[in-house]
Amino acid sequence: MALVTSKKMFEMAYKNGYAIGAFNVNNMEIVQAITEACKEEKAPVILQVSKGARAYANHTYLVKLVEAAVIECPEIPIVLHLDHGPDFATCKSCIDGGFTSVMIDYSGYSFEENIAETKKVVEYAHDHGVVVEAELGTLAGIEDEVSHAVGSYTRPEEVIEFAERTGCDSLAIAIGTSHGAYKFKPEQCTRNEKGVLVPPPLRFDILKAVSEKLPGFPIVLHGSSSVPQEYVKMINENGGRMPDAVGIPEEQLREAAKLSVCKINIDSDLRLALTGTIRKFMAEHPDKFDPREYLKPARANVKEVVRHKLIDVLGCAGKADECR
Ligand code: G3H
Ligand code: 13P
Ligand code: ZN
Repeated sequence: MALVTSKKMFEMAYKNGYAIGAFNVNNMEIVQAITEACKEEKAPVILQVSKGARAYANHTYLVKLVEAAVIECPEIPIVLHLDHGPDFATCKSCIDGGFTSVMIDYSGYSFEENIAETKKVVEYAHDHGVVVEAELGTLAGIEDEVSHAVGSYTRPEEVIEFAERTGCDSLAIAIGTSHGAYKFKPEQCTRNEKGVLVPPPLRFDILKAVSEKLPGFPIVLHGSSSVPQEYVKMINENGGRMPDAVGIPEEQLREAAKLSVCKINIDSDLRLALTGTIRKFMAEHPDKFDPREYLKPARANVKEVVRHKLIDVLGCAGKADECR
């Protein structure tokens, strides 16, 4: 099947208590790892491309890689989404260039500026059959194109006016997630019996208040990697240095997926699996220099991370057919 929008996916995810995985893609191996796992687990999927990904890999290469995945995986619905679109021009370029969904991220601007830019994108997108994600509230964390030193939670009292005046199709909110592999400072966390950092819980009170104001409306969580300690350890044992990297506990994401959260963004966990595996391979095989040899196990491990997310975190395995 051709690329789809996320409309039906979100409708079913909301109704049946799961979330769609939105995974960032930058190269062929990542596209393959994600879509092969989704195909095998019969899961709908959102492949998303950031401004940085477009600068790195080139818009056309990424679109063609995703189109190749559509051909290879006809059994599953696939959305091509712009992640953190910084302005109308970037959103327009993606809408004109084959994307089926865009995010306009004006969360760093004033409420009125956010509404004005989002509305402009929504009007253009809807005229072209494309859906729009917007954001209210800012995430903390550091991720090159989306860096906010200090986050601010979404204010539930603003969401009705924002959704009505913009006409957006889904809304990303800030409830304590953040981008990257260092989501919390050690002093914000406690330590469990194994000495692993335990972050403060997500603000489910805010999520529930938002959902009460916007019943039936799909909510999005960014910054939702869990930073698997297995891969942090693999990186640290093979020449890397990532002290105190910590993510969002998976049980909390599973809880959110049962509520109004219909899209969960995961990028850093895939990067950690890829990098950890390559570091380990390199350390164990200092004589190898064929990229295919180290990218093959790296791709295989990314695929297993995605499979785990689909089954144990998002709950969307086996849902491909109902999302068509
Ligand atoms: O939230 C952003 C995504 O993780 C993409 O990151 O800007 O490094 O491509 P990027
Ligand atoms: P992570 O850095 O937690 O993977 O978040 C990714 C994201 O929100 C992409 O928009
Ligand atoms: Zn994000």
